[in-house]
Amino acid sequence: MNDAWSAVETSESRPLLDLFESDPDRLSRLTVEEAGIRFDFSKTHLTQSIVSAFSALAEAQDLAGAREALFSGKEINVTEGRAAEHSAERGQGAPESVARAAGLHARMRGLIEVIEAGAFGDIRHILHIGIGGSALGPDFLIDALGRDGARYDAAVVSNVDGAALEEAVADFDPQATLVVIASKTFTTSETMLNARSALAWLEEGGVSDPYGRVVALTASPERAVEFGVDETRILPFSESVGGRYSLWSSIGFPVAVTLGWGAFEELLEGAASMDRHFRLAPLERNAPVLAAFADRYYANVRGAETRAVFAYDERLRLLPSYLQQLEMESNGKSVRTDGSPVGRATSLITWGGVGTDAQHAVFQLLHQGTHLVPVEFLAAVEPGHSLAEEHHRQLLINCFAQGAALMAGKRSDDPARSYAGDRPSTTILLDRLEPSSLGALIAFYEHRTFVNAVLLGINPFDQFGVELGKEIAKSIDSGDGPEFDPSTKALIERALGEGG
Ligand code: F6P
Repeated sequence: MNDAWSAVETSESRPLLDLFESDPDRLSRLTVEEAGIRFDFSKTHLTQSIVSAFSALAEAQDLAGAREALFSGKEINVTEGRAAEHSAERGQGAPESVARAAGLHARMRGLIEVIEAGAFGDIRHILHIGIGGSALGPDFLIDALGRDGARYDAAVVSNVDGAALEEAVADFDPQATLVVIASKTFTTSETMLNARSALAWLEEGGVSDPYGRVVALTASPERAVEFGVDETRILPFSESVGGRYSLWSSIGFPVAVTLGWGAFEELLEGAASMDRHFRLAPLERNAPVLAAFADRYYANVRGAETRAVFAYDERLRLLPSYLQQLEMESNGKSVRTDGSPVGRATSLITWGGVGTDAQHAVFQLLHQGTHLVPVEFLAAVEPGHSLAEEHHRQLLINCFAQGAALMAGKRSDDPARSYAGDRPSTTILLDRLEPSSLGALIAFYEHRTFVNAVLLGINPFDQFGVELGKEIAKSIDSGDGPEFDPSTKALIERALGEGG
């Protein structure tokens, strides 16, 4: 394995423009079309020999075995003793897990029909409460796909800052609101506090049985029952579906309610088509695999610390936040699955924004700054609005111009006006932003994250790094923790008026 890594780490590339010049097939070799999405990796420094070196590393790390273990429901999340069965939610997994997921989906569909039939009264608003993986996916999908034809007003509240809940319900009528509490564990303190405040808001708004208006989405149904939710309104999902991989499970309930069951099914089918591609395509034609090779190349060979994602599409404005959890919570680790130090850079720091706004804010650094930042551009051929075509034409022109400019650069006698060029980018072009293509896109990112983890030998499915802060918050709350440092003590005293 070390030999395979050293072959990768000593691999050399050439300037991007030279690579194009010397290889007429470069574009077609590094472009993959799948599920209505064009993935163009040709403006990265990947070459045939770099792809071969990474393929050898993938073999040394048994990527094929790890992939089969993922899809067949083996216990690959070893530190938590669980499988990682998000793909079973879209029909790609161990037969018993697929059957169980289908059963839970049928139950979810049944509850949606009950809501549609008016059993909860005239519901017009969906208030979804959750955080992290229990909020980011629904928020992203509803924002991306719910702009036309959403059947309910939906708001997603995650932050424990009361301002978030207050703002979310400002235009909601409590009498017409269904409250959805989403929490895999049903113990997350922010979600529980927001849930209690939402129940109080329903009650103050004259709802006689606030608990009767609550739907719970969880892998811990017994805790939801303890909280007071009736069993008939609890939509469980499997413990083996990780929080940040859970939008395909009952965590997708607000998406299915808001967009309709048909759209939710299309989302799952789109993801399933990416699953099949990831499983079957050879490594050098496999979109998530090539993307992960590029990630590792920039992180481990070129020393990049971040990667930036810019969607030239308002509908994808929440994509960077979604990816931040998926990628950084999964791969922001320092030890391998066996506990030994990884010894090389792991997750890139994901950041980004929307084009064209970002061009007028952060692109200066991308074009002339000292950091190497691989950039990812996303766009859709079809516009997501009905204004004059010129808007979309300008949007796409700008997107493509930025990738070309980063790569080509421009010499000038004036150093302040010089662009070094040779700055890498990937372009992901969707024919159309619709449930199936978005499902495929998200599954692409999941598998890319997985391949990165396999190459590094880390477990992408645990997240122990978030626990210490939670523990300390608890001991500040209870006041019976250990003695804090002088800075923390002073802050507690000043803002909370407590002895710390
Ligand atoms: O604190 C991190 C985390 O555990 C995430 O992994 C998860 O998505 C989020 O909290 C919410 O957890 P839950 O769904 O159990 O409320």
